[in-house]
Amino acid sequence: MNDKIAAPKGVPEYLPPDSAAFLAIREALTRPAVLAGYGYIELPVFEETALFVRGVGESTDVVSKEMYTFEDRGGRSLTLRPEGTAGVIRSVIEHGLDRGQLPVKLWYAGPFFRAERPQHGRYRQLQQFGIEAIGSDDPALDAEVIAIADDGYRALGLTGYRLELTSLGCAGCRPAYREKLTAFLADLDLDEATQERARVNPLRVLDDKREQVRAQLTDAPLMLDNLCDECATHFAAVRTLLEGLDVKYEINARMVRGLDYYTRTTFEFVHDGLGAQSGIGGGGRYDGLMESLGGQPLSGIGFGLGVDRTFLACRAEGLDVAQQARVDVYVVPLGDEARRRAALIAASLRRAGVRVDLAYGGRGLKGAMKGADRSGAALTVVLGERDLEAGEAQVKRMSTGEQVAVPLDQLDQNIKEQLS
Ligand code: HAM
Repeated sequence: MNDKIAAPKGVPEYLPPDSAAFLAIREALTRPAVLAGYGYIELPVFEETALFVRGVGESTDVVSKEMYTFEDRGGRSLTLRPEGTAGVIRSVIEHGLDRGQLPVKLWYAGPFFRAERPQHGRYRQLQQFGIEAIGSDDPALDAEVIAIADDGYRALGLTGYRLELTSLGCAGCRPAYREKLTAFLADLDLDEATQERARVNPLRVLDDKREQVRAQLTDAPLMLDNLCDECATHFAAVRTLLEGLDVKYEINARMVRGLDYYTRTTFEFVHDGLGAQSGIGGGGRYDGLMESLGGQPLSGIGFGLGVDRTFLACRAEGLDVAQQARVDVYVVPLGDEARRRAALIAASLRRAGVRVDLAYGGRGLKGAMKGADRSGAALTVVLGERDLEAGEAQVKRMSTGEQVAVPLDQLDQNIKEQLS
């Protein structure tokens, strides 16, 4: 006997019936973006490694520890995409999309790859739905992007999530703040590893969860109190617009994102029913990214929503987001001639847009009716020898058990009326 092969560690799979919920979630999250004029972009799943090193930042965990990097047969270093923003910007520059009307608005969805330690809600293959809007620093665009994510979660019926918001400043005001923070951290009693982190990226120390570190950070200077006038005005405008749109948010001035490109407005959606991996989505502005990847100096903003974690959040809230029924109609043929006719009836109804399955393999009435129950169909069409002789089929409404004989030439019409 050969050993069985399992899926790789940390890679979730979605099988029926869960996969219906997965698709419904992705669809619900996507809809508000399509309504706001975002166009679909299908991106490569792997890119040149340099794209992520330059785009996401060498000092981030995502790049330094979590990338799936490999050499192809031509000796090029390629990496399975750990996130979508860098790829979108690469594509916009490469294809000159930024030479047309601005902002360029795009959405994408699919798998991303991070070699993290797997746990509940933290996967090595993760699914995101994301949008990017490039080429305008209008605060109205920040509000639009955030509201699109909020609308998607709301459309699913989610209520147990919070939106956390902050501003990370810009290339003008952040260096001075960084110096201030570095000086503050230098005076603290921190272990060697944390001191090193403070040197590489002082902002990340603010997010330390350990009590002995947190206690020392109470009076740490915060970016939000050190914004330049332009950044402060921008942030105030975003807040006012969100309030106007009735999007609830909390300020989290200590928010730390795992990617280096963020500037100004930065946000995270956090769900309280998920345990440690509570971030169901996040994003922000990245006003220097395009230029750092060789494009023109255009600003941008976007988000990535975790479809896996949104799935878990819906489950935690007991939401039934998928249409449970697999089909609308189940056809039960009894006898050889009926089986032949059943296939034709099913094909004709499917062409008319009705979801149909049928009992295969000559099952008896009892077994076939069990299949009908399990399918979730609203109507079952029973086709016996005698029905065929009379030119009819029995159409049974599963919820009431009520059954009527319908002439075969009126079947499509009758079923469509009953389903509407
Ligand atoms: P991110 O915060 O790294 O941002 O990821 C976005 C979302 O993807 C997270 O909030 C989380 O829900 C989900 N996610 C991330 N890692 C995992 C994982 N290992 N397992 C399950 N879910 C995960 C980005 O990726 C940015 N590209 C978002 C963005 C777009 N910012 C601007 N534009």
